[in-house]
Amino acid sequence: PIPTVLDCDPGHDDAIAILLAAGAPEIDLRAITTVAANQTLDKVTLNARRICSAAGISVPIARGCARPLVRTLHVAGDIHGESGMDGPAFGAISVDVVEDHAIDVMHRNMPATLVATGALTNVAMYLQRYGTASVREIVLMGGSTERGNTTPYAEFNIYVDPEAAQIVFDSGVPITMIGLNVTHQALVTPAVVARLNEIGPLGRICGDLMTFFAATYREVFGFEAPPLHDPVAVAQVIDPTLVTCVEAFVGIETVGTLTRGATVVDLHGRLGREPNARVAVGLDVDRFFDRVIDAVAQLT
Ligand code: BDR
Ligand code: CA
Repeated sequence: PIPTVLDCDPGHDDAIAILLAAGAPEIDLRAITTVAANQTLDKVTLNARRICSAAGISVPIARGCARPLVRTLHVAGDIHGESGMDGPAFGAISVDVVEDHAIDVMHRNMPATLVATGALTNVAMYLQRYGTASVREIVLMGGSTERGNTTPYAEFNIYVDPEAAQIVFDSGVPITMIGLNVTHQALVTPAVVARLNEIGPLGRICGDLMTFFAATYREVFGFEAPPLHDPVAVAQVIDPTLVTCVEAFVGIETVGTLTRGATVVDLHGRLGREPNARVAVGLDVDRFFDRVIDAVAQLT
C-alpha cells in the first residue's frame, strides 16, 4: 500500500475522501492533518474527529494552520454549513488529536504521498520548513482548466490561499492537480445516495452528508447533483487509471484584481514554460463511484 498523508478541511466531500483513503487497500493512511478553509480550524478538526469516530478510523489527526499565509480566512459556510459538515447526526467522539503540529506529523510520516483537499497552507508551510526531498508526490484537489466556483475564475481551495498554492506549484515536487473540470463529472446522483444508504449506519451518514451537500449545490449553483470533489484526488492515488492527466504548466494568479486564485493552465504550451504539473482532464466516473462505495462498505 502507498504511504499517504491526507491534508484536509472537512467538509462534506473531505469526509468521504477520508473514508476512501482509510477504506481502500491500496493506501496506507498514515495521518490526517487539518487546515482552515471550509470552516475554521477548530470546526474542521472536530469534523475530522467526528467522521473518524463514526468509521472507526484510528490514524493520528493533527491540527495545522488556522489561517492562510497572507490573506484573511474565507470560509465556505454557504456550501458546508455553520459546522463545516452540516447534515448528519454524529454519535460520541472517540478519537482525539495529537499534540504536534500538522507539518511535524507530516514530516514524521515521510516519505509519503501527500493528498491535499483543502487550502494549501499546511503543504506550503511543510515545504518551507522541511524542504521538498521527502515528499514523493502531491496530489491536490484544487483549481480548474476552466472557470471557478468561488469567483468566476478561482476555485475555492486555491482562492483561499493563493500564495501557498504558488509555493506548492513552484516547488518542483511532482504534482497532480485534480480540478473542477474533472470533479464536476463526479456528480452524486440520487442513485449513488441510495447505494450509500443501503450499506448500513456509516453509509447513512454519507447519505445524509450528500443530501445536505446536494441542497446547497442546488441553491448556490443550480446543480442537479453535488460534485464529489475531494475523493477524486484520493482515487487518483488508489488507481491512476481512473483519472486521465496531461502535463502542463500551471501558474497561480496572486495579483489579479478579479482573478485572485485562478489557476492559469497552459494546455497548449503557449507560455513556453516547462510543465510543473500533471493536470487531470478525464475521470472514469462509474469505476470511481464503485471505489467510493467499496471503501465505505469495507469500513462498515
Ligand atoms: C473544494 O472546496 C471545498 O469546499 C471542497 O471541500 C473542495 O475541496 C471544491 O472547490
Ligand atoms: Ca476540501
